Amino acid sequence: MADDSKSAKLIYDGAEYDLPVHSPTAGPDVVDIRKLYAQAGVFTYDPGFTSTAACDSTITFIDGEKGELLHRGYPIDQLASKSHFLEVCYLLLYGELPTAEQIEDFEFRVTNHTMLHEQMQYFFRGFRRDAHPMAVMVGVVGAMSAFYHDSTDISDPWQREVASIRLIAKMPTIAAWAYKYSIGQPFVYPRNDMDYASNFLRMCFSVPAEDYVVNPILSRAMDRIFTLHADHEQNASTSTVRLASSSGANPFACVAAGIACLWGPAHGGANQACLEMLREIGTPDQIPEYIERAKDKNDPFRLMGFGHRVYKNHDPRATVMKQSADEVLELLGIENNPTLQTAKELERIALEDDYFREKKLFPNVDFYSGIILDAMGFPQSMFTPIFAVARTVGWISQWKEQISDPQHKIGRPRQLYLGETYRDYVDVENR
Ligand code: CMC
Repeated sequence: MADDSKSAKLIYDGAEYDLPVHSPTAGPDVVDIRKLYAQAGVFTYDPGFTSTAACDSTITFIDGEKGELLHRGYPIDQLASKSHFLEVCYLLLYGELPTAEQIEDFEFRVTNHTMLHEQMQYFFRGFRRDAHPMAVMVGVVGAMSAFYHDSTDISDPWQREVASIRLIAKMPTIAAWAYKYSIGQPFVYPRNDMDYASNFLRMCFSVPAEDYVVNPILSRAMDRIFTLHADHEQNASTSTVRLASSSGANPFACVAAGIACLWGPAHGGANQACLEMLREIGTPDQIPEYIERAKDKNDPFRLMGFGHRVYKNHDPRATVMKQSADEVLELLGIENNPTLQTAKELERIALEDDYFREKKLFPNVDFYSGIILDAMGFPQSMFTPIFAVARTVGWISQWKEQISDPQHKIGRPRQLYLGETYRDYVDVENR
């Protein structure tokens, strides 16, 4: 908190209260209401946290008006074009870009934790084959705390470090195995001599019956998708991880909670929902009908992949993702992909429509990511698990930051109670 010299006044019930105001290094000032209830006996009310900062953080900053996303100060478009996913992981976790020696050491540590405890296979085998891979991931990641006891003591910084590396390293193996299990193919063990993205693609798409060579274009696109999803400050799943961790729960349990939250269609599930919607629209001539449905207050339909709580100008991740979609489809020789054509036309029509302009609804990161993943050969059910693989580093970085904060305490929101007041129990014969 850079400047604490300002204050705000609250007049309530005839009395005046001074509330400290903290100025951040970037973004709006924050009125500190921590002592408000003790002093004035009132709560604040903010369902959905639209105006509430729940923590302080130095990891990621979003300027929703400018459409800017910074990790430790570095803009996402520069990271997506010049860096790579494991370097961004290092940046998020430790605060600075690594030296050549530091990244070599970090990559070595990550690639040496990619295997799962062999007994964990039985967890996968216990699920129905048609289980959604996100359901499998919630279960298997939660179960990691039953296997890696030597990294669940959150008061020990070394154990926190080992748990962080384990989660980042094993998540691709877990997601790939959830997929392999669902299609009835054998699990493919990780290869520590491959880069993070190539290893993931190989675990998803290779079979023991033949050689598999990772296409470097797809590997680069995969790495970029991971980079674009690595962290996004206090979004719903990250806040879920922080809230779970505030009680002292172990990191595997906290990340399992984050995966559960990410699954929802308003959050990580939107990339799957978006591709389903584009396929349902089918051809550009159907677009006006869907635009009208999205605008109709009596129709629950929304344009998936459009809108964002924070971005009100453009989502910088979507810009990179759109370029990536063009590149990947061209390189694969499928640039006339009808879904991509429908997406581009939908974007064009929506951006010219008064409803979407007035409400500042723009394509978000999920609008084009599904098209790329589909072209790579992933089924829709794998889109959100891939988001979970990428976001693990964000969850873990925010979790580590929270635990190291001496001020951190259990999260315990209050409520505006609108239910019945005290009443005596009525025996069943008198109801
Ligand atoms: N299509 C049509 N109308 C929309 C849309 C949409 N996609 N998104 C918002 N609106 C309208 C909404 O009906 C509301 O209108 P009104 O003011 O007349 O009631 C207004 O815009 C504000 O919407 P909101 O739901 O209050 O905004 P929010 O900040 O609570 O929701 C959102 C943000 C992302 C959940 C929402 O825009 C949405 O549901 N989008 C579709 C799902 C999606 O693409 N989610 C991925 C988000 S990015 C990836 C991630 O971070 O997880």
